[in-house]
Amino acid sequence: MCGIVGYLGTQNAYDILIKGLHRLEYRGYDSAGVALVDNNGQLNVYKTKGKVSNLEDYCKDKNINGTVGIAHTRWATHGEPSDKNAHPHYSQSKNIALIHNGIIENYLSLKTFLSSKGYVFKSDTDTEVLVQLIEYMMNEHDLPLYEAVYQALTQVTGAYAIGVIEKNNPNELITARIASPLIIGVGKDEFFLGSDASPIVEYTKDVIYPEDRQVIRIVRGKEIEIRSLDNKSLIKPEVKQIQLSLEDIEKGGFEHFMLKEIFEQPKSLSLCMNGRLQREQKEIILSGIQNYGERFAKARRILISACGTSWHAGLIGKYLFETLCRIPVDVEVASEFRYRNPVIYPDDVLIAISQSGETADTLAAMELAKKQGAFIYGICNVVGSSVARLTDSGTYTHAGPEIGVASTKAFTTQVCILAMTALAVAKQMETISTEDYKRIVTELCNIEEKIETILSKTEEVKEISKIFTYARNFLYLGRGFNYPVAMEGALKLKEISYIHAEGYPAAEMKHGPIALIDEEMPIVVVAPRYQMYNKILSNVVEVKSRKGKILAIVTEGDTDIKRLADYVIEIPQTEECLSPLLTVIPLQLLSYYIAIAKGRDVDQQRNLAKSVTVE
Ligand code: G6P
Repeated sequence: MCGIVGYLGTQNAYDILIKGLHRLEYRGYDSAGVALVDNNGQLNVYKTKGKVSNLEDYCKDKNINGTVGIAHTRWATHGEPSDKNAHPHYSQSKNIALIHNGIIENYLSLKTFLSSKGYVFKSDTDTEVLVQLIEYMMNEHDLPLYEAVYQALTQVTGAYAIGVIEKNNPNELITARIASPLIIGVGKDEFFLGSDASPIVEYTKDVIYPEDRQVIRIVRGKEIEIRSLDNKSLIKPEVKQIQLSLEDIEKGGFEHFMLKEIFEQPKSLSLCMNGRLQREQKEIILSGIQNYGERFAKARRILISACGTSWHAGLIGKYLFETLCRIPVDVEVASEFRYRNPVIYPDDVLIAISQSGETADTLAAMELAKKQGAFIYGICNVVGSSVARLTDSGTYTHAGPEIGVASTKAFTTQVCILAMTALAVAKQMETISTEDYKRIVTELCNIEEKIETILSKTEEVKEISKIFTYARNFLYLGRGFNYPVAMEGALKLKEISYIHAEGYPAAEMKHGPIALIDEEMPIVVVAPRYQMYNKILSNVVEVKSRKGKILAIVTEGDTDIKRLADYVIEIPQTEECLSPLLTVIPLQLLSYYIAIAKGRDVDQQRNLAKSVTVE
């Protein structure tokens, strides 16, 4: 949700900033802009509505010189996507430019105050208030840039990662953060800012992860200076190494990141299980559970809180923990949980699931549960993210960077971690027999290979997808472990193809959605052969009697549903509790190819953002 980039060094900043914006475009892409201080002391701001490529066109005949600059790709919150609302924003005198990811909550009162002092606002954004406030601090209190930023930040509430530069000060770049991601790259005589490491990795692996409430001054030729926003104390920068490689953030020959990430799933699951799944011994070793398993064993209840696709993974987590560990589980969308004054007991365990580790509502749910004494366990992908920092313990999914806005490999690795965690806890609590434990763990060892088998049927899925591009509505049905998979399949379809789709527990269909079924209506039934098979078979018959077009995801060798369905995709046999790891793959492919057939922009869908850092 908005991406920020910054550079101060010896090279021309523009190229680095534009490349960085392209890498961060997954965070938002309704407008983009860049600000540069050139060698003649000019502060130039160029910004346009639309994608980063529009900005590049716009800048073709402009002065793009300068070795210090900031740039931004936007996902609109305050103010519609437009040239004037794009970042960077100038201050009144045009001496300062600022980029911002986050939200300034008290912008209205600050705007009223600044307006009374003669400041005129050119945009509808909350961000412009901050750059004006910085200028006010400079003028009113005769402060240098760094001090003015510091003083201004003591007046604002909200979330932010910012970058600030000044016309008269081409040797300085100021940045700060609260609750929005920020990484500083440290090169030889050069520094980089990024909302994540992707704009930085090409130039340096040495990075600093600023903590919340830190204000940072980067001065050409000097050591970086970090101060706490609370008491101005000096903080020693801690330089860490990023593990990311350039290959991880490029498409690697695939047409879209989404397709690359779908195909990466065998590898991302391997990385996810690496060192945790002991393939020889058929054991699961999770340090989080080794150290804190007791907390789970004694839990009165597990609460799972997340948003979007991560919430769907959480719904599967409920089936896993209740089936394997016999611990009651409540799963809640974080945005509801945080505001409804939920009952939380100190002996609850809250599992927060998040790919980005930055989703504002998920973080708020964690804080709420933490305040009430619950034990906080995190499952997240981005190392060092806010979710990771807020947990008492947890497990990284190690899926590698997920760039496609529609989440795919993050989902399967989250389900995999939930399965491994539930198995490890069940073993510790002795709620699972040794035989069942070994059998499921053995199946986990085979899961990557089984996903490869499904991926080898991509052409089959592609052909089927062509048949369904006419549809305006889809219904996805599933039961048990595969009911959340039906919801995830429907979400994938609507977010990338803009076709309306609903995921439903198959039997619940009779209480409403059945009214929608006619010969036009495609129904995707997730129906692998497990204990509820006969029940779902009856549901398929009900759909068939109303002439719905059925696409069924079935276990290899199935004959019963095959006879009824119009189209069938087979998946290999596995344990029921692991089946979502397989059944979701054809649904991801189906949505991808339907969206392609409809000419949609698969990696950058309208209105969506990869990481939702505002509530
Ligand atoms: C956004 C993304 C989804 C994601 C959700 C939760 O809506 O587009 O793909 O599932 O946020 O994000 P998180 O990073 O917390 O998993």
